[in-house]
Amino acid sequence: MSSDPVKKIRTSTLLALKQQGAKFACLTSYDALTASIFDEAHVEVILVGDSAADNSLGYDSTLPITLDEMISFTRAVSSQVRRSLVVADLPFGTYELGPEQALASAIRLMKEGGAEAVKLEGGLRSASQIRAITEAGIPVMAHLGFTPQSVNGLGGFKVQGRDADSVEQLKKDALAVQAAGAFAVVLELVPAEVAAELTEAIEIPTIGIGAGASTDGQILVWTDFAGLSSHGPRKFVKQYLDLRTQLLVAAKQYRLEVIDSSFPNESQSF
Ligand code: KIV
Repeated sequence: MSSDPVKKIRTSTLLALKQQGAKFACLTSYDALTASIFDEAHVEVILVGDSAADNSLGYDSTLPITLDEMISFTRAVSSQVRRSLVVADLPFGTYELGPEQALASAIRLMKEGGAEAVKLEGGLRSASQIRAITEAGIPVMAHLGFTPQSVNGLGGFKVQGRDADSVEQLKKDALAVQAAGAFAVVLELVPAEVAAELTEAIEIPTIGIGAGASTDGQILVWTDFAGLSSHGPRKFVKQYLDLRTQLLVAAKQYRLEVIDSSFPNESQSF
């Protein structure tokens, strides 16, 4: 019998944290190395986001990434994680056709990728998909506010919930995803007071990104958090490192040392 002291984070852990008024942290990861570090840091949720599209694969948006690509990223992450809850995004085009397509895609992320939950975008419009997936025993995280897969329909990267009608719609959407069985909901680019209202209005945890400090959890895209992205920091991002500059300095130094024959030295040689 294992004497493993690791206390696995489950969807019920996140609900209990909300009920206790405690916060939790989430980061994205798309690879084995960062996943193992974030797990060791006790980050509660690791999201294999479809932001892998623009952060790892060089696409312009999240739209082109495929289910097969998401499965590879998810397998890399889940292979290293012992404690954090691993959630994987259903990419654009793999759930919009209806509950059957959504369930088939979610099953692949769980079975082939090793995910422990899936995330999809949309409120009322995605409720039947959320219901079908949760009824099959797969936990679902919803995603409201600015939903990157709808960037074209939303007219670009814009804060949502700025007027009374759109706040009303956000409330309906949050209640709909909760009723359909979602265990948590991401609120992206939503005014802080609207996110606070939604967090009060529903029982499941809210996870904010550009949604102020009142949500139950926070999430950042890891390349933004570490300062690796080529674009400058966005207003809602806190950059905890300047990894891009550090890597650039290191790569330049390495090149110079190769050119002047100071690397490898005697101790680095056989
Ligand atoms: O794909 C992603 O990284 C996300 C986060 C922004 C929540 O969905």
